[in-house]
Amino acid sequence: MTAHVPISLQVNGEPVDAQVLPRLNLADFLREHLSLTGTHVGCEHGVCGACTVRLNGDIVRACLLLAVQANNASVETIEGLSDSGEIADLQDAFRHRNALQCGYCTPGMLIAAQDLLTHNPEPRREEIREHLSGNYCRCTGYQAIVDAVEATAQARLERAS
Ligand code: FES
Ligand code: FES
Repeated sequence: MTAHVPISLQVNGEPVDAQVLPRLNLADFLREHLSLTGTHVGCEHGVCGACTVRLNGDIVRACLLLAVQANNASVETIEGLSDSGEIADLQDAFRHRNALQCGYCTPGMLIAAQDLLTHNPEPRREEIREHLSGNYCRCTGYQAIVDAVEATAQARLERAS
């Protein structure tokens, strides 16, 4: 029998201590141990982006990380970004522009889009497409998602000016 390993980390600003199996990936840890089911699991091998979370401020694929690798780290999930209001405008834009249908890709898409807007507040449409190219959506055809991100960028720039 494999022994559990103790880990301590911050999740959405809250301290978390847990005992996990060494093979448990971060996505399953968030979903099954912490009930943070907004982190979705699609391909489970780093391709679809459904499991995107922030680790120490950078976006990562939670299916490719072991929970033990997040020891002492700060993890932010879609629940944290949503509850803080950080992406409220982006979420509104997704709703108003029909940038989600089944919603399976949406948490990862929102986190990736917010990462882009944080680093590049005035992205061109090609840059939005490029940045989101690692996040698959089977429903929308992507056009509406790019529209929503572009509209959010413009609105943020107007508010800041
Ligand atoms: S589930 Fe992680 S990239 Fe697809
Ligand atoms: S809205 Fe269904 S996969 Fe993107």
